[in-house]
Amino acid sequence: MSTILVTGGAGFIGSHTCVELLDSGYDVVVIDNLMNSSKESLKRVEKITGKKVRFYEADIADRAAMTKILEENDIYGVIHFAGLKAVGESVEKPLEYYKNNISGTLEMCDVMRKHGVKNIIFSSSATVYGEPAQMPITEKCPKGQCTNPYGWTKSMLEQILTDIQKADSEWNVILLRYFNPIGAHKSGLIGEDPNGIPNNLMPYITKVATGQLPRVNVFGNDYPTPDGTGVRDYIHVVDLARGHVNAIKKLEENPGVKVYNLGTGKGYSVLEVIENFSKACGKEIPYVITDRRAGDIAECYADASLAKKELNWEAKYGIKEMCEDSWNWQKNNPNGYR
Ligand code: NAD
Ligand code: UD1
Repeated sequence: MSTILVTGGAGFIGSHTCVELLDSGYDVVVIDNLMNSSKESLKRVEKITGKKVRFYEADIADRAAMTKILEENDIYGVIHFAGLKAVGESVEKPLEYYKNNISGTLEMCDVMRKHGVKNIIFSSSATVYGEPAQMPITEKCPKGQCTNPYGWTKSMLEQILTDIQKADSEWNVILLRYFNPIGAHKSGLIGEDPNGIPNNLMPYITKVATGQLPRVNVFGNDYPTPDGTGVRDYIHVVDLARGHVNAIKKLEENPGVKVYNLGTGKGYSVLEVIENFSKACGKEIPYVITDRRAGDIAECYADASLAKKELNWEAKYGIKEMCEDSWNWQKNNPNGYR
């Protein structure tokens, strides 16, 4: 029960999860094709923990590579992060997104089944709720219409994994719906390292803080929220990573299919995030109000009580630490891992 395969483990959430798994006594094997990450993050994971990560540079759809991994290691379960995640790009390249995220997962699950590895924790997203029917969002809230192919890959994979478990009760499937992960490990050695101009709010703000971008574009201030800007449930990536360690423990109860929101339960507006970040970095963050971004909703925050009850997990860090740790990572690594 002690070796975990982390797909996409060189990425933002994957690398933080490797740290928490190693610190909790698990052995960690990573498969990543490095299409959106670098090996350097895993070197830093080893530096932080003083432990080794067994790394395979390969695609999850590569059956030979997956077979080799499952033959060479006694894998108890898979934490499945590998996937493409850029919302805008998914609208431009739906075929690439469906192929990578869905076909890749199907191939991987088939090889897992052949080797009797039937425990999986899947990185899903609050995006599967679409325009949420209620706020805060509970897991009982119905899934909705996604506004982009990326979101649909998450929604479809949730269904696929659920059907696989329904047909074979030896499988255990935990679907974790993340809200908005930000922040970085306290060491400042690992963090989020997006390619090009960031799409998401926090990596955009950090690049304004270092002077690499002139100002933040605030996408709309006419939403029905207290200050008119979008409200989200930001969650510290270390809290999120720890949620996966607790989910691994849950697998030992043979739970079948389980769905959990991983969020803090508290929403912050865009302007509140900018204000908190300004305090954390000690300088004003310039911003300008622009038009709304297509597909955005006014507010989105979790009811995270089910994860507290059943996973014995809750987020510890608040917006102050999230901003401080994002800044600590960015200021020490202005060009990310490059
Ligand atoms: P990331 O891009 O940093 O990490 C994903 C990793 O998967 C990368 O290292 C990439 O190289 C790898 N990868 C992609 N396709 C692969 C393939 N076919 N084979 C092998 N490796 C592959 O992203 P992240 O922010 O760490 O997100 C991890 C997971 O969590 C993703 O599935 C993402 O959709 C999901 N998620 C992320 C967020 C977020 O805000 N970051 C929110 C909700 C859900
Ligand atoms: C986005 C994705 C979601 C995905 C998540 C993590 C969309 C519609 N949703 O969530 O599917 O799971 O990222 O990858 O893209 N904002 C600005 N200026 C910016 C960037 C963002 O004002 O430059 C605002 C947005 O309007 C929103 C908030 O900041 O109100 C957070 O945006 P973002 O970080 O992109 O996350 P989401 O849109 O919530």
